[in-house]
Amino acid sequence: MSENQESKLYEPSAAAREGAHVSGMAAYQRLVDEAEADHAAYWARLAREFITWKQPFTQALDDANAPFFKWFQDGTLNASYNCLDRHIEAGKGDKTALIFEADGGEVTRTSYKELLARTCRIANGLKSLGVKKGDRVVIYISMSVDGVAAMQACARIGATHSVVFGGFSAQSLRDRIEDTGAVAVITADQQVRGGKHLPLKAIVDEALALGGCDSVKNVLVVRRTGAELPMTAGRDLWMHELTAQQADACEPEWVEAEHPLFLLYTSGSTGKPKGVQHSTGGYLLHAALTTKWTFDLKDDDIFWCTADIGWVTGHSYITYGPLALGGTEVVFEGVPTYPDAGRFWKMIQDHKVTIFYTAPTAIRSLIKAAEGNEAVHPRRYDLSSLRILGSVGEPINPAAWEWYHANIGGGRCPIVDTFWQTETGGHMITPLPGATPLVPGSCTLPFPGITAAIVDETGNDVPNGQGGILVVKKPWPSMIRTIWGDPERFKKSYYPPELKGYYLAGDGAIRDAHTGYFTITGRIDDVLNVSGHRMGTMEIESALVSCTELVAEAAVVGRPDDTTGEAICAFVVLKRPRPTGEEAKKIAAELRNWVGREIGPIAKPKDIRFGDNLPKTRSGKIMRRLLRSIAKGEAITQDTSTLENPAILDQLSETN
Ligand code: WT7
Repeated sequence: MSENQESKLYEPSAAAREGAHVSGMAAYQRLVDEAEADHAAYWARLAREFITWKQPFTQALDDANAPFFKWFQDGTLNASYNCLDRHIEAGKGDKTALIFEADGGEVTRTSYKELLARTCRIANGLKSLGVKKGDRVVIYISMSVDGVAAMQACARIGATHSVVFGGFSAQSLRDRIEDTGAVAVITADQQVRGGKHLPLKAIVDEALALGGCDSVKNVLVVRRTGAELPMTAGRDLWMHELTAQQADACEPEWVEAEHPLFLLYTSGSTGKPKGVQHSTGGYLLHAALTTKWTFDLKDDDIFWCTADIGWVTGHSYITYGPLALGGTEVVFEGVPTYPDAGRFWKMIQDHKVTIFYTAPTAIRSLIKAAEGNEAVHPRRYDLSSLRILGSVGEPINPAAWEWYHANIGGGRCPIVDTFWQTETGGHMITPLPGATPLVPGSCTLPFPGITAAIVDETGNDVPNGQGGILVVKKPWPSMIRTIWGDPERFKKSYYPPELKGYYLAGDGAIRDAHTGYFTITGRIDDVLNVSGHRMGTMEIESALVSCTELVAEAAVVGRPDDTTGEAICAFVVLKRPRPTGEEAKKIAAELRNWVGREIGPIAKPKDIRFGDNLPKTRSGKIMRRLLRSIAKGEAITQDTSTLENPAILDQLSETN
């Protein structure tokens, strides 16, 4: 692979280099050197440049209580002030902040002034209900101006938001509400996706009825479709009624830099999802900085990140980064395939999008659609406004990269393949479009100031060309601060003692022998990545075995999938004789729906196989490597001599 990498380099064009915030590799190297010379001073310089502080900080990094690092600790700020007010004070109040396109195609433009007014009304509404600094607010809403404004409103009053993706089930929502101890839930009557109306408020009702959510005093409901809804007196309020009486100005609550801006739940290899806690100052700095450098965002750009605000990508590259820079961005309610698979391309054309950021899964499914239907092929649209493309969430295979580059970018737009995680807050390893020569399938080099490295199990560097464990050696401002309510788990998950105090990302990686470029080789724990969504195998197993009527035992593994990257494959032992034929199909469908209800549709196994037992060693350990081979349909090459019950391998190879 190493020799090809050099021969496949795509150098940035003169147009990409010219006027770029980071122009050319020498400029990149100067930043890397500056950070290396004095890590804390480098970040302090940028924190002063990118953030308007109420009270300036005097110390950049406090590492006295590692790995509980603190950044800019004695500084105070407000995230929503930085995203809204300061641009208005600078005379940009009438500039469009959000170009919202609804599922059905209606477009609304919201200026900075208007977004601030909306944010303040919601903030005042929350305050009128007694919500205050340090309280948690869960937001369960689809892509909308009010979704962004609700997050900004929480930030404005110092409440910590926790957005739950609108595709999660009542049970998952309940678990997150309980874990955060939220005092309020912000939702909408319904969400609209692909022409369908889907419930939101009804799921909140269901979640609260499951119990354990006594902390919730109010549910605020944004009217989206006008659906008839039961409202619980004394608890539920319509957002438009609450905000109608509120002033459209609200003094920001100045918080300490370390004040938790948000919690966002993500899957780990064990147990329940973890509430990743992010700070205000360090997080906002990196969201803004990476938006500027990785996307080379300029004042007149039209930026479009297709992620949902329910994921970290939507936090950093919709709600916070672009707004902190005073940019203009597209916010899209719908799905890429409605009314047809040309939707993204039509929107790029209509809104003259200049920077487009999406996930490999979307690209792969749109490639398939374009190959099958000339009418939705990108060549039918005018995509000449584009200048930079981005990819996020999972590895992008070189074939999809080349297609994206040629068909969407017209061969002229650099692709930034951004590697990062919920825990990292922003980009960690990524090209900079006016500097880094690109290699399809590689996220190239660390962002300046990010000390990414590849080590062995004892934390020693491995030479380039040899794979290992991806770590980050030094703390960085936007890093996870803790797991909400479980600091021990934070330490155990991310700072295992054998790794010399390095942050453990949970991914394997390799650096090219010639270029030193990073390629991510995939998770080294039991975490799957399905369509760019992270899912723990244990979580899905727990959901399956919670179907106590049917399921005795379950094991879940991932297998490669052409469209979704990885697909979920579940091996199940029932409490009744192993089903075959139609019966097996019927039970598999039932279990799929069960998992959908327990976690959410995104966790439904693509493949369910039944066996009289699972392959186990004599000591009773499930042989997962074997299951992974079976799921892939590979011939079994592993040693099965320790296997207690070899006969079941054939059973488990049968698909339903
Ligand atoms: C995991 C993090 C990044 C925000 C959205 C997902 C995988 C992410 C890339 C990439 C290869 C990638 C990793 C990582 N991943 N970006 N560019 N190339 N793999 O955040 O849900 O926290 O998932 O996604 O495995 O650990 P997340």
